[in-house]
Amino acid sequence: MNNTQLTGLLEQMTLEEKIAQMLQLVVSYFVESEVDGQITGPMESLGITEETVNQVGSALGIGGAARVIQVQQNHMKNDRLGIPMLFMADIVHGYKTIFPIPLAIGCSWDQDLAEQSAAIAAKESAVSGLHVTFAPMVDLVRDPRWGRVMESTGEDPYLNSLFARSFVRGFQGDDLASDVNRVAACVKHFAAYGAGEGGREYNTVDLSERQLREYYLPAYKAALEEGCELVMTSFNTVHGSPATGNRTLMRDILRTEFGFDGVLISDWGAVIELIAHGVAEDEEQAAFLAIQAGVDIEMMTSCYVKYLPELVRSGKVDESLIDEAVRRILHLKNKLGLFENPLRGADPEAEREIVFCDEHRAASRELASKSCVLLKNTNVLPLQSEQQIALIGPFAQSKDILGSWSWTGAEEHFMNLHEAIQGRITSSKVLSAEGSGIDTITEKQIQEAVEIARQSDVIVLALGESSLMSGEGGSRTDIRLPEAQLQLIATLRTLEKPIVVVLFNGRPLDLHGVEDQVDAVLEAWFPGSEGASAITDILYGDVNPSGRLSMSFPQSVGQIPVYYNHFNTGRPKKESEPDNRYASQYLDSPNEPLYPFGYGLSYTQFKYDDMVLSSEEMTSDLPLQITTKITNTGNMPGEEVVQLYIRDITGEVVRPMKELKAYSKVLLQPGECIEVSFTVTEEQLKYHHYDLSYTSDAGEFAVFVGPNSRDAVERRFRLLK
Ligand code: IFM
Repeated sequence: MNNTQLTGLLEQMTLEEKIAQMLQLVVSYFVESEVDGQITGPMESLGITEETVNQVGSALGIGGAARVIQVQQNHMKNDRLGIPMLFMADIVHGYKTIFPIPLAIGCSWDQDLAEQSAAIAAKESAVSGLHVTFAPMVDLVRDPRWGRVMESTGEDPYLNSLFARSFVRGFQGDDLASDVNRVAACVKHFAAYGAGEGGREYNTVDLSERQLREYYLPAYKAALEEGCELVMTSFNTVHGSPATGNRTLMRDILRTEFGFDGVLISDWGAVIELIAHGVAEDEEQAAFLAIQAGVDIEMMTSCYVKYLPELVRSGKVDESLIDEAVRRILHLKNKLGLFENPLRGADPEAEREIVFCDEHRAASRELASKSCVLLKNTNVLPLQSEQQIALIGPFAQSKDILGSWSWTGAEEHFMNLHEAIQGRITSSKVLSAEGSGIDTITEKQIQEAVEIARQSDVIVLALGESSLMSGEGGSRTDIRLPEAQLQLIATLRTLEKPIVVVLFNGRPLDLHGVEDQVDAVLEAWFPGSEGASAITDILYGDVNPSGRLSMSFPQSVGQIPVYYNHFNTGRPKKESEPDNRYASQYLDSPNEPLYPFGYGLSYTQFKYDDMVLSSEEMTSDLPLQITTKITNTGNMPGEEVVQLYIRDITGEVVRPMKELKAYSKVLLQPGECIEVSFTVTEEQLKYHHYDLSYTSDAGEFAVFVGPNSRDAVERRFRLLK
């Protein structure tokens, strides 16, 4: 359909038909059984007519080619103008082949594999009938109490922006119109949903404009620069105004400044929630605020369909606002080729072949093995095949390893950790017991665990949080492992056998009672369908761990928020003055996190030498070259993530102690030494000044190169202007 035809279609539509395009309904409005879908928000009665349901513009949470075909064909019979529906769903880290959760993918620091995972998720979704995924979620996160940190790639704006780009490229490919194996991406949640006070779900966000622009907005912007087709509004307030009705955020920043002309969709119920927020008196005012802000689709409430017609007829809302929204929705449908082919990629036969195929599973296994982070290892890992192991814990034989947002995941066909280890070694070499539940423990469980532990050389404890303890609605004030599991560790510790802990969880944890009690800790996150095999690969040294944290692990919950790119304060704590009371510090805890951003161990060791700067001065025309030698001094091949950080020593406003500006992931054979080079340009030294202008300051800078944000070597240079 060309633009003229699209305009012609718009002109034929009644006001009610247009407004129905702006409504999105969940699976249960279209199929009798919710088994074929997912409910991801409150289900209130919407009070809408059958006629509206027949004309509705889009549906969410329906899965499966046969089901989608049935719903679309039914819709096409009922819709007067034959406008096809859009099918959307949260395909966040895989459709049937589930990849590690995004926080884990962040720890891979691997853009190519992240893109590949999104491309596979897109392909499986597209043959299953979907057109749009509500991903990537690119909210910057600093508070592990928030359950949705699992869905973000972490605490760094630069790393998050790179991943935002990879995911969008993977989902959408180069040309959505011709490539039916791709789906449109919807970046979310605009904006700053990750900054909710106290880590409490849906809570208030109150940030300075500079904080917002400097840390929170870059990843959304990166996704849009990559051509992301849709944006989802966030539930939270921004500068006192809920995002879904926030004109400055949506019109001035998103549309005008960022140039976004795609579809803006509300989060589930976020339009009606303007009433609870206290900025709308009733549904009519909620509809008014959202349309003024430029929200094109209202998800799962009916303020638009109930009140926009009268608001337009009474002249309070200009019909051009409705036309603008509907044009964008029709344009997206057109771009996806739906007018020519309303079923697009939906194909039950291809679905059977493609979905969860061996190739996709292999990709998931590779990414899972790159996402695990080895946090501690006092020479107990890798395990030897001849060792007798006792595999104990609630995750030893659990399949709850996919993580939140994996409703489409193929649970029936993948292995748990016990099965994967049995497949790798002689099965008599692994004994297994539950040891405890997630948060319960019995005398019998303890006895069984102790009995098999006594017969073994090494105890492998598979511990963690159930997938429901993170994800949406998964905020917690206590982020230690549940007491039952701590008790299990303490009991087994008394046997004086080496203990390896494998953690399954969706957030950085407070590791008191874990890290200080055991010999090795492997953070496996929720690793996805092939996670058990990937973990086994690492435990037995078939794969050398290379994951690096994309979010800091706090010492304890009292330290939160704790993130690497913090300011110095006027009274920084100095190592040389340990007794100075009047320093910015805690009396009962170090300031530093337990494990910092960028941290992760390998089975080999890397030595950094000879960091050299091409000059002590740089200008905008003369960038700086930085080289460092890295040697693999161990006896296993291994991948190192060489990280470069910058600090502006004296800015117009205070600047972070370190900011990641570049990194390079390199593979080194034992004994191999390579030179890694980075170029630092003036662009990388820019930031938002007092007046929000984005420029750099002449003067002194520190540059750090190293294996993580804590242990990096520092050099100085000056920017001349
Ligand atoms: O996409 C999600 C969003 O992230 C949270 N609320 C529900 C939406 C649709 O499932």
